[in-house]
Amino acid sequence: MNSAKIFFGSNEATKDEISQRRSPYNKRVVSTAPVCDADDTIKALKIAQKATKATRASTLSQRCNWLLDVANNLALNKEDIAMTITDEVGKPLAFARVEVDRAIETLTLSAETMRTMHGETINTDAMASGKKTMSFFRREPVGVVAAITPFNFPLNLVAHKLGPALVAGNAVVLKPTPEAPLTAYKFAKLFINSRYAIKDALSVVYGDAEVGSALVTSDIPRVVSFTGSVPVGEIITKSAGIKKVGLELGGNAATFIDKSADLDLAANRCALGAFINSGQVCISLQRIYVDADIYDEFAQKMAEETKKLKVGSPYDEETFMGPLIDDDACERAMSWVQSAIDEGARALLEPKVEDRTFYPCVMADVRDDMAIVCEEVFAPIVSLVKVNGFDDALPRMNNSPYGLQFSVFTNDLSLTNRAIDELDAGGVVINDMPTLRFDIQPYGGVKLSGVGREGPKFAIEEMTEIKSVIICR
Ligand code: SIN
Repeated sequence: MNSAKIFFGSNEATKDEISQRRSPYNKRVVSTAPVCDADDTIKALKIAQKATKATRASTLSQRCNWLLDVANNLALNKEDIAMTITDEVGKPLAFARVEVDRAIETLTLSAETMRTMHGETINTDAMASGKKTMSFFRREPVGVVAAITPFNFPLNLVAHKLGPALVAGNAVVLKPTPEAPLTAYKFAKLFINSRYAIKDALSVVYGDAEVGSALVTSDIPRVVSFTGSVPVGEIITKSAGIKKVGLELGGNAATFIDKSADLDLAANRCALGAFINSGQVCISLQRIYVDADIYDEFAQKMAEETKKLKVGSPYDEETFMGPLIDDDACERAMSWVQSAIDEGARALLEPKVEDRTFYPCVMADVRDDMAIVCEEVFAPIVSLVKVNGFDDALPRMNNSPYGLQFSVFTNDLSLTNRAIDELDAGGVVINDMPTLRFDIQPYGGVKLSGVGREGPKFAIEEMTEIKSVIICR
């Protein structure tokens, strides 16, 4: 049995109280982790605070080499890490491998980006009183970053926090998702064992709300970077005090299918966007607004594309969709589908759940106020809504407490322009699913979907402070 261990800086530790992680697919125990408390968290934070002397003094060259070394070792350990992701969260192996590849790119991008990020000179002598002055600004590390990560991408979303934070010269205390402690431990170990590592710059503590609360409320971190649910994001906002808080929260992504669209492409990509990772993606496609003229044709194509997706064991190379993360997720998703059906919605494919395997569910005849439409489902359920053109779809798409990513399928340029201008979200995709993320891009939302942006360049901006310098000559 592989056990995660605490990293108090570069020192490994364990505890008497250990939690077991069971596979969401076959319920076998796949890993264990120490259960940390507030004292452990404060201890890790103090170690990180002390380490900032070394992180600040380190060269960018060392920090870039550090990330590139970890990326290289991730590639060498790809199969083992991918299997650990599959064991702990049930992500199909083929997609777990993709996640490892993405994390390698995220770290590489973080190093490349920081290498070329720079300050600017400011023309203070353009000011009436600025004669004989010169000025510039540069970016400095904030000090300690507290990183809290979710289960749905237990490796790459850690990379999106560790890469930018460490390359910018910060120390980090990571609280990974309780669902994938071993994935985080194996990843952190690559950082800590690297020959370029800065001693004590990374700590890892495991646990739930007690650990999260100690991290967030402490004065030591200057940035809290959180990816997870809206309720937890709200608690963090209220309790963090004066520090920067980055929140990447939920969404209920929507798309519009225009009558000019390529319907085969749209159906194929919408099935992917709705069901990849069993819908457990913040930008999972949940609402499809379809022009009335092509509604029936699209609905049929969507059902056909969905039927092609292979559901089953995440260990099977061909599997597209594995289990949901836990029983609660299955029960909630099925109860929302059932109440929509009770209120008149129609399932195009029979809703089915076996153990934790929730089959892809395409719903029609839904209303905007049904939970499967207006809440974040985080499960493989997508709803088709018949609309009279984009004018009808637009307010309904925007009528959501969330605003992470939207998309539009169209070959009409003026509609493309309107979608970019008028959709109220952190990202708009044209002619693909809203579930499209390139790790180089700014990623984050408006409204309840969060505050701030990830993507190496944007996260580095969030995890640094600008220092302004004036030189009087
Ligand atoms: C998320 O669920 O927010 C992450 C999506 C991704 O990285 O693809």
